[in-house]
Amino acid sequence: MSPQDGLWLRATKSEGYAVPVSTFPVTRLRRLRRTTGLRRLARETRLDLDDFVMPLFIGPEPLANPELPGLARHSVETLGAAADELERLGVKGVILFGIPEEKDEEGSGAWDDDGVVQRALRELHGRDLVLMTDVCLCEYTSHGHCGVLDGDHVDNDATLELLARTARSHVEAGADVVAPSDMMDGRVAAIREELPETPIVAYSAKYASAFYGPFREAAESAPAFGDRRGYQLDPANVREALRECEQDVAEGADVLMIKPALPYLDVLRAARERFDLPLAAYNVSGEYAMVKAAAAKGFLDERLAAMESLTAIKRAGADFVISYWTKELAGWL
Ligand code: PBG
Repeated sequence: MSPQDGLWLRATKSEGYAVPVSTFPVTRLRRLRRTTGLRRLARETRLDLDDFVMPLFIGPEPLANPELPGLARHSVETLGAAADELERLGVKGVILFGIPEEKDEEGSGAWDDDGVVQRALRELHGRDLVLMTDVCLCEYTSHGHCGVLDGDHVDNDATLELLARTARSHVEAGADVVAPSDMMDGRVAAIREELPETPIVAYSAKYASAFYGPFREAAESAPAFGDRRGYQLDPANVREALRECEQDVAEGADVLMIKPALPYLDVLRAARERFDLPLAAYNVSGEYAMVKAAAAKGFLDERLAAMESLTAIKRAGADFVISYWTKELAGWL
């Protein structure tokens, strides 16, 4: 008996054990992998710059970050030039994070009309970029938590009004989209009530992750005590993530976001299957930094590793991705 009979695998059954029946040699999956052209035709997922959003950090002083250029800091004054360059490269959206000059217990810099993000928004006005803002208090509070404190715990309900106030001030300064990342219960409803017309990208399933490390350095937002496990999701849970998404849909979110991305592709896939809203993923600072560090040591090719990672995030079900690679991706595509 030879493979040409097509009965080759079946034949072993007579020896007393079951084997899967292959349709080889009728089927040969390698046929479509032979050339670049064939692979292109068969490709299921593509990277398109339209689906990427670049994070921008704005602080009192510009601060280059040579190892992690995506996490460099701009000042309001230098931001215009950075945005011009992104626009020229074809980037379509940015998300702004502010590092205020002064922090306080409540995080009042977050809703200051003359705050760093508000000034940045006015600076960016009129450009062909979707202006998204991260709505959270952690960069603005002296203790670094995402809401106001009652003793040593974060007071959920007292924080809601402050988040809504922050979102409103962002929109008044020119934000197109607000993205609450604090993980308080009820924040989407509170913002929705304040802003009936503004798209809300909800960080619906934001996990208490070790992969935010480089961001917290850049944004000076590490909590002064404790951690964020009292409000961010337990990395072990996926059903709970879907309940968070459900709540955000009910409260009026326009887009659901899963964060981080790469360690949570199963969560992305589960959310994709359950909900019809657009789905976003946040390819966070630690995911970016790992590849950058490995590439700097010559352990892997950054461009290939980054494009593979971003493709995986899209394949898992994300419609768009917030990524520090957005600018570099513009050059690669
Ligand atoms: C603010 C916020 C964080 C990130 C986005 N928004 C930090 C945190 O929750 O500690 C992380 C982004 C990243 O790591 O790239 N709450």
